[in-house]
Amino acid sequence: MAKHPAEPFRIKMVEPIRLPSLEERQNAIIQAGYNLFAVPAEFVFIDLLTDSGTGAMSQKQWAAMMEGDESYAGARSYYKLKDTITKIFGFEYFVPTHQGRAAENILSSLLVNSKSQIPSNMHFDTTDANIRARGGRPINLVNENAFNISLVDPFKGNMDLSRLEDFISRTGPENIPFGCITITNNAGGGQPVSLENIQGVSEIYHEHGIPFFIDACRFAENCYFIKQREKGYQDRSLFDIAGEIFNFADGTWMSSKKDAIVNIGGFLAMRNKDLYQRVCNELILREGFPTYGGLAGRDLEALSAGLWEGLDEKYLEYRINQTAYLGERIKEIGIPIIQPPGGHAIYLDAGTMLSHIPQSEFPGQALAAALYLEGGIRAVEIGSVMFAYKDPENGEMIYPKLELVRLAIPRRVYTQSHMDYVIDILEVIYKNRKKYFGYKIIYEPELLRHFTARFELVKPQSI
Ligand SMILES: Cc1ncc(COP(=O)(O)O)c(C=O)c1O
Repeated sequence: MAKHPAEPFRIKMVEPIRLPSLEERQNAIIQAGYNLFAVPAEFVFIDLLTDSGTGAMSQKQWAAMMEGDESYAGARSYYKLKDTITKIFGFEYFVPTHQGRAAENILSSLLVNSKSQIPSNMHFDTTDANIRARGGRPINLVNENAFNISLVDPFKGNMDLSRLEDFISRTGPENIPFGCITITNNAGGGQPVSLENIQGVSEIYHEHGIPFFIDACRFAENCYFIKQREKGYQDRSLFDIAGEIFNFADGTWMSSKKDAIVNIGGFLAMRNKDLYQRVCNELILREGFPTYGGLAGRDLEALSAGLWEGLDEKYLEYRINQTAYLGERIKEIGIPIIQPPGGHAIYLDAGTMLSHIPQSEFPGQALAAALYLEGGIRAVEIGSVMFAYKDPENGEMIYPKLELVRLAIPRRVYTQSHMDYVIDILEVIYKNRKKYFGYKIIYEPELLRHFTARFELVKPQSI
C-alpha cells in the first residue's frame, strides 16, 4: 500500500499559475487594504481562500453541460437533478438556487422573525448573517471538545445534546422555527458529525415539534468520515450512509460548490408541501422560476453529475488524505492546528502561534497576510474579523473562542507538491513569527465584514 493515495485522476488541461514578485505582492495587499478578498486572483499563487466553487470539474461534468436544457420552465435538466436529489437525499420537494446563501435567505425570510432563535452545532458565516438579517439569533451548541484544539476526537462537529435540550426548554419551541446542524462543521474546523449524534439531534427537535434542517455543503466528506470512524458503518456504501443521515431530517440546503464539485449552484429541499409552495413563491421573487432557480440548465446538469462524483469513495479517500497530509506536516513544524485534520481544510491556530498579538488586533488576519506576503498563498481568517461582534446590550466586544486561519483545499485542483510548497512557506513564517504585527480595522460594513473590511497595520513590518 502506498503511504498516501495518489490522485485518482490525471490532468488533461492545465491552467498556468505564477508566483508574483515580492514587490507585486506588497503592492497588491496594500491596495487591498490588507483584505485578501480584495487581492486580484492573478496576484495569488496558491489559492486556499475557499474550497467553494473552486473545484475542477470532471470530463463527465463538462460533457453533461453540453446536454443542458435551457428551457425556462420544466427543463429536462431540472428533472434529472430532481431524480438525483430524491435518490441521494430522499426529499420529495426541492428548488435549485444559485448558491447556498440564497437557500439560507429564502428559508430565513419565510421562517425567521425577531423572536426567533436558531440552534445548530455552529452556523457558518452566511447562515449566521441570514438569520441576523431577519432579526433572529443564531445559536451555536457544538460540544465543548470542538474548542479543545489538540484533542483528537473523531466527531468534533457533534452537537451537545444536553445543551440543546436545555436551550429548547429555556427558549420555548414556539420561538424556534427550525433547528439545524452543519455537516461537516466548517466554522469549527471541518469536523464531522456522527450518525448517532444526527439521530439524537433529530429526536430532540422532533420531540418538540421543531423542523430539522441539515446544512449539507460537505455531506459526502461527512459520510466518508462516518464510514471510517463510526462503529457499524465500515461495510456500508457512502450512498447508503447519506440516505440514513437525511432520513432523520425534514429538509436540507446545500451550497453545491463544495461536495458537488461545481463552480456555481445550490439547492433547498424539504418534505413539507406547504413550505415548498411558499419557498417557490419566494424563489420566483428572488432567484427565478422553480425549475431553474438561479442557474442555467447546463449548471443543473453539472450539479447532477457532481453529486454522484462527490460521493465516490476513491475520490474521497484521496481528498481526505490530501488534507490529512497537509495537516500532519504542518503539525510537525510545531504549528498548532485543529486536530484531527478536517475534511476540506486545515485550520491553523493563529491565536496560539502569534500569541503576542491580542485578539483585538486580529492574529488570524496577521497570519493570513503573512502567508500572502511570504509565499503568494491566499487563506482566510476565521476568528475575530469574521465573528467578533458588539454586544447589543452593553456595546462590549464579544470575541470568538478561537482565532483561526483556514487553508481550504479546492477539490481536484492542487497536487501534493503544491501542498509541500505551502508547508515550506509556513515553516519560514513559524521561525520568524515574532516579527509579525496585528491590524486594526479602518472600514467595516454592518454584516459579514470580513469580505469587504479594510485594515491598517498596527506597527510597520518588514519582510
Ligand atoms: C457550511 C456552509 N454553509 C453555507 C455556505 C454558503 O454557501 P455559498 O457560499 O454557496 O453561498 C458555506 C460556504 O462556504 C458553508 O461552508
